[in-house]
Order: sequence, then C-alpha cells, then structure tokens
Amino acid sequence: MCGIIGFTGILDAKEVLTEGLSELEYRGYDSAGIAYVLGDRIKTVKTAGKVNCLKEKVQREAAGDQTSCGIGHTRWATHGGVSDLNSHPHTAGKVTLIHNGIIENYQELQAELEKKGKTPVSQTDTEIAAMVVDDGYDGDPVKAIKRAVKRLEGAYAFCIMFEEFPGRIYCIRNGSPLVATYTEKGAVIASDLVALIKYSKDYFVLPEHHIAELTPDGIRLFNLLDQEVEPKMLHVNWDTASARKGGYEYFMLKEIHEQPEALRRTITPRLKDGLPDFSADNIPDSIFEGLHKIVITACGTAMHAGLIGKNLIEKWIRIPVDVEIASEFRYKDPIVDEHTLVMTISQSGETADTLAALRLAKEKGARTLSIVNVKGSSIARESDYVLYTHAGPEIAVASTKAYMVQLAALYLFAMRFAFVLGKRTEEQTKAVVKSFLNAVGHVEKMLSSDEQAEEISERLVKTEDLFFIGRGLDYALSCEGSIKLKEVSYIHSEAYAAGELKHGTISLITDNVPVIALATQKDVYVKMISNVKEVRSRGAKVILITTEDALVDASLCDHVITIPEMEDIFAPFCAVVALQYIAYYAAVKRGLNVDQPRNLAKSVTVE
Ligand code: M6R
Repeated sequence: MCGIIGFTGILDAKEVLTEGLSELEYRGYDSAGIAYVLGDRIKTVKTAGKVNCLKEKVQREAAGDQTSCGIGHTRWATHGGVSDLNSHPHTAGKVTLIHNGIIENYQELQAELEKKGKTPVSQTDTEIAAMVVDDGYDGDPVKAIKRAVKRLEGAYAFCIMFEEFPGRIYCIRNGSPLVATYTEKGAVIASDLVALIKYSKDYFVLPEHHIAELTPDGIRLFNLLDQEVEPKMLHVNWDTASARKGGYEYFMLKEIHEQPEALRRTITPRLKDGLPDFSADNIPDSIFEGLHKIVITACGTAMHAGLIGKNLIEKWIRIPVDVEIASEFRYKDPIVDEHTLVMTISQSGETADTLAALRLAKEKGARTLSIVNVKGSSIARESDYVLYTHAGPEIAVASTKAYMVQLAALYLFAMRFAFVLGKRTEEQTKAVVKSFLNAVGHVEKMLSSDEQAEEISERLVKTEDLFFIGRGLDYALSCEGSIKLKEVSYIHSEAYAAGELKHGTISLITDNVPVIALATQKDVYVKMISNVKEVRSRGAKVILITTEDALVDASLCDHVITIPEMEDIFAPFCAVVALQYIAYYAAVKRGLNVDQPRNLAKSVTVE
C-alpha cells in the first residue's frame, strides 16, 4: 500500500516523480504529493485525490520550477483521513519524508514530542515519524535515521530529504518494500519495479534495516553499523510495455487476456521429458521426508488458490493440508513444527500478514516454500524454497492472472510429488500432465467467448446481493468468484458450499436473487443439480457454469455458461475465466473504475 518514489540525477525530477506515481497509483489512490529541491529549500506540492489531481496542481503551482531531486508518494490512507494536509510528503524542521507502512507507537512518540513543545499539524503517523527523525538530527542524516529507527515501531519504508543536503535522498525500510537502480541519468528508488523499469532492468532490493544514500553519482548502501554493503543486483525480464495497458480499457481485462501466456511461462520451464520437474527451482524431492502435514497460508485471492491446492494435494498425495488465512494464522499459536511444510502464496511477495505467517512458521521450525510472483520480494527471499510464478507485472487491484499461475504452480507441485512419493507411476504422471496441458490450452478458448458473461453482467447492474454455490473444487472457486465480484463491482455476494446453503442462508433466497452455481465436477453433479433446484424453486435466477458435455435441463436455470470438456480436476482453469469476466463486466456496466476499486490497494503491506 502507498507508492513511493525518489529520484536524484540529471532529469527533470518533477516529471520523473509524477510519471512514476502514475505507474505506482494502483498501490493507493487517496492522495498524492511530491517534494523537491528548489534552490536552497525543499518545496512540497500535495493534494487529496488521484495522481492526475496532483499533476494539475503541479502545473498550476510549480510549472516553472527547475529541479533534479525529489520524492513522491501516492497514499492509501491508514492514520488520518483523506485530506491535503494528511497527504505525503510531510515536513518537520529540516526533514521531509514519505512513508509506506504504519508507525504503531506513534501516539506514545507524539506524547514525547509534545512534552518538548513539538506539535504535529496532521493526523498522520507519518508526520510523527518525520518529527522523530528531525528530533534526532544534529547535521548528520545517517545518525538521525539510526536514532529514529531505535524509537520507531511498526512497518515502514521511508525516503527522506534533509534541507541541508540538497541532491541527496536517504532511504530505509522495515517490512515495506523498496527497490532501487542507478543509471548515468541518476538514482531512482521506488516501492515497486513498475516505476523503475523504464530506467533499467537491473535493480536491487533495499535490504531491511539498511540505509541507502542516493546521490546523482550513485547509490551507497550501509548497514546500521555504518559498514558499506554491496547491493545484490537482480534482473527483471519484463519491460515497460508489460506494465502498460496496451490498448485495453482496463488492466484487469488486459491481465485476464494475458493468462495463456502467463501459464506457458510458468509451466513450460518446469516440464522435463513430460514430467513436472523443479530442479531449476532447487526444490529437492526430499522436501516431503518426515512430513506429517502441509499448511497453506495466504490472503485473499492467493488464499483461494490455496483452497484449490488443498483439494489437489490431499487427493493426489494423501497428506493432510490446512488452509489458513495468514492474518489468523499469525496470531493463533498454530500447530506447526519441523514435520510441517508451510506454503505461503503471494502475488506481491510483500503482503504483511503472509510475511508474518512465514516468519512465524520458520520460528517454529517448519520447512517453508512460497509461491510468489514478484522476484526478490520479501516472502521469496525469506522462504526456504521458492516457486516463482511468471505472470509478469499485475497492476489491476483485482488479481486474475496471478491466481491462474498460482493454480498452475500448485498443480505442478501436486503432480510432481504424487510421482516422487510413488502415488503415481511415471506413465500415469505423464498422462496427467497431458490432461493438464490440454486443460490449460482451453483457457485461450474461454477468453474468446465472453459474450455470455457480458450479457449476464448486464442483468446484474441493479443487483444488490448474489450467491455463489459449488461443491469441492467448485466451492473453492466460488470463493474466488465472490471476492472478484465484490471488489470490483461492489455487489454484495457470498460463496457457499452448495450443501450448506440450506442450513440458514437459503432464507435469503427470494424472487430474482441471482445464484451463480458452479457444477463442473461429475462426482457431485447430481447433488449440485438438486441444490440448484432448491434455490430455483424459491425464486432464484440461476446462472449455471458447467461443462459442455453436461446434460442441462433448460428449465433448471436462466443462463448457462459452458466450459470445454476436460478432466474435472482441471476445470478451475477455465471456470475461473467465466467468473473473472462476470466480475469485470458487472463493474464496467456499473460505470466503475475497475482497476482502482474504492478503499483497496494492490499490495497490502499493513496488517
Ligand atoms: O500480493 P498477494 O497475493 O499476497 O495479495 C493478497 C491479496 O491481497 C490479494 O489477492 C487480494 O485479495 C486481491 N485484490 C483480490 O483480487
């Protein structure tokens, strides 16, 4: 949450910062601001609203300013409402800073500062952080930061400018992400690669509790013992075009369409002689040795991918799998030890709760494996093993292609270890891989048939409540369909295990309440159809998602979306596309900003 950028070099800093903020806007869009060196002072321009409001303000109030050093921020509000005053950057004395994270002890610090006669003007924890840095400043920026770090509790990524050091930007982080690069045009730091990529494909992740000093000549990195540290360079293999809309109206639609390619990139390098193979990922076959159970922990959509993973792993490997919401797992003293494999799943690799869950699992001695999209992210770096998904940058807040490749990674994982553990022969595994490839091949076909989903969404424009029902894998998928619809269209929906509906919730099914029923699993198809009849006889409008070969009685539902025939276990790859389309079109038809739903942010780096 919150997008951060800092630049010092020979380019127009206002331009670098505001353009960078446009790229980072998906991280938070409550307000935006920049601060830059102007002669011997630091000037700040900030406003509530989106980055475009900031650009207009900069045009009005700063058009003629020449500057080549500054910091910029786009905010997802936590402490203090959405207002000009609460926007970043914040200045205290000689210090101007931007912040991503939450300072948990800000009230205590505020009380200490007030005793010294120092009062904040905003309601933010960030201004308190600026005041704390300034409070410990005696002309040496690094010492001031080190003193502040001792006093601050919580998660943070800061970019800090000191009035007496024009041209320099100091950065430090704890928990929240920062990546940086240097070219002959200058030094850039940002919370996300999307803002760096146009300057260089080589970058480094600022290690936690290290101070980066950016100057027009380069970036120096120090640990808190003042020892200089060599940055560990990484290379990104996608380009600016991948991070742009490329003719699509919204990133969400673009990313839905990128799914076949993302699947290919994630799957192909992990198939060797027709078998799943993780040797290039350095995941040893011995990972299951002495294992009693698996815990999958994640948040939101990534957690829903985990629900599918549980079904697969339990079915194919016959080892118990718990799926835990990371924010619950981290506070419940979980039963996890050296006989447990804890798998974390995360697109960003920075989700605060998932990261904390991973750290707790490690503390308890568990083996850890993460499925992560963003290279070099905290979760990837801190896990024993990483299975990178190769979705490329996902910008829309609603996760689509990242979910798809998380599924692919989980299927590969389950297939590999069912083979390694002797649950399936080589022959059988090759046959399953073939069916898997056949199924993911159908995703392309699903993408080209969005008319039904569009038509159904048209009818959902006035809907206030909706239910998703399914059994087994279809129930896990219902959870994903429901979150997608809620977050982008604001239609309230709930996902129910179809058999459970009648234990209370069916009282909400009245005339014309839409029910999206997923019935892609043959073993429970008849049961599903009974549940569909139950809701239909109470007036529900039923949208049935099923396979092409299913015999659907026309009187059973109001709409049918079919997915190609395939082995049931792979149906989620195609069925989810229909759900993504329904959510997307419902939001478009309601006239909403699909990529920037209210109150949300892409990467949830606060708990
Ligand atoms: O980056 P992560 O995968 O860890 O993010 C987890 C959730 O915040 C994320 O999946 C969220 O639920 C999506 N916005 C849903 O579309």
